[in-house]
Amino acid sequence: MTNHLLSLADFTKEQLTGYIDRALLLKQESRNGQRHQQLSGKTIGMIFEKPSTRTRVSFEAAMYGLGGQVVYLSSRDTQLARNEPLKDMARVMARYVDAIVVRTFGQEIVEELARYSSVPVINALTDLFHPCQILSDIMTVIEKKGAIEKLKIVWVGDGNNMANTWIQAAAEIGFELILACPEGYDPAEEIMAAARKKATKPLTLVRDPLAAVKEADVINCDVWASMGQEDEQQERLEIFQPYQVNSKLLASAGAGTIVLHCLPAHREEEISEEVLEGEQCVAFDQAENKLHIHKAILEKHINE
Ligand code: CP
Ligand code: NVA
Repeated sequence: MTNHLLSLADFTKEQLTGYIDRALLLKQESRNGQRHQQLSGKTIGMIFEKPSTRTRVSFEAAMYGLGGQVVYLSSRDTQLARNEPLKDMARVMARYVDAIVVRTFGQEIVEELARYSSVPVINALTDLFHPCQILSDIMTVIEKKGAIEKLKIVWVGDGNNMANTWIQAAAEIGFELILACPEGYDPAEEIMAAARKKATKPLTLVRDPLAAVKEADVINCDVWASMGQEDEQQERLEIFQPYQVNSKLLASAGAGTIVLHCLPAHREEEISEEVLEGEQCVAFDQAENKLHIHKAILEKHINE
């Protein structure tokens, strides 16, 4: 079976923590000036149907940093834009490259590509999941706070692709996760249900963000309207206002709480400028860790 990375639910705890351990080592080695060449002679193809700064640049830099090459395709430049079937695209790309990194809309699109691709397909964000991001987020939590199994992690805001992926990670790895979402914006029900069957620690959905963050080790937030939901932006601004991560919310958590944001951030919407720029926020270390985790992912999926 081809070694795809479509959803964290397809992996064991050992596999998930394996990416993080490897990324921590690669980060240390890079800091020490060590050069890597383990993907020399290999090429990835990147198909991005949504905008990206961090994921695109960190995947490209990761591949070059391991001695490999990258071909980047925005959807408007490919025949996908003119309705070439995904199954043809997958089979053709697989003849040219050693892995395909995809950012797109429906999860079924990455699944269809994976079904027909003989090389690994890596999910770089869909409407449903953002698996590579959550691996770098957990790496950041471990660096800052130690073993995640002992921590209380809180999600504040929309039950979106990031939230869904945190839920899967909590179930697989085994840590407490509380989600505070406004009514009507819960994470996907089937993902919660599947995770609850596996979870070894509490996995709860609440409405009150202030109560949720009490004694939290980590507060996570993300935009209120994700890519593709731009026409809901205005109505969401009002609904999500009580869910803003600001100094009042942070004070109710504690001085040792760290704040994660996958970025891009909308200041004074989901997060205040003060919190984003404050000492408890680790968003920029989190962004750096995307580079190291992507190296670990590419190395594992291409070379094994
Ligand atoms: N966090 C993240 O995925 O950022 P980009 O959309 O810039 O890739
Ligand atoms: N939930 C956001 C994440 C961006 C990295 C989105 O899908 O737009």
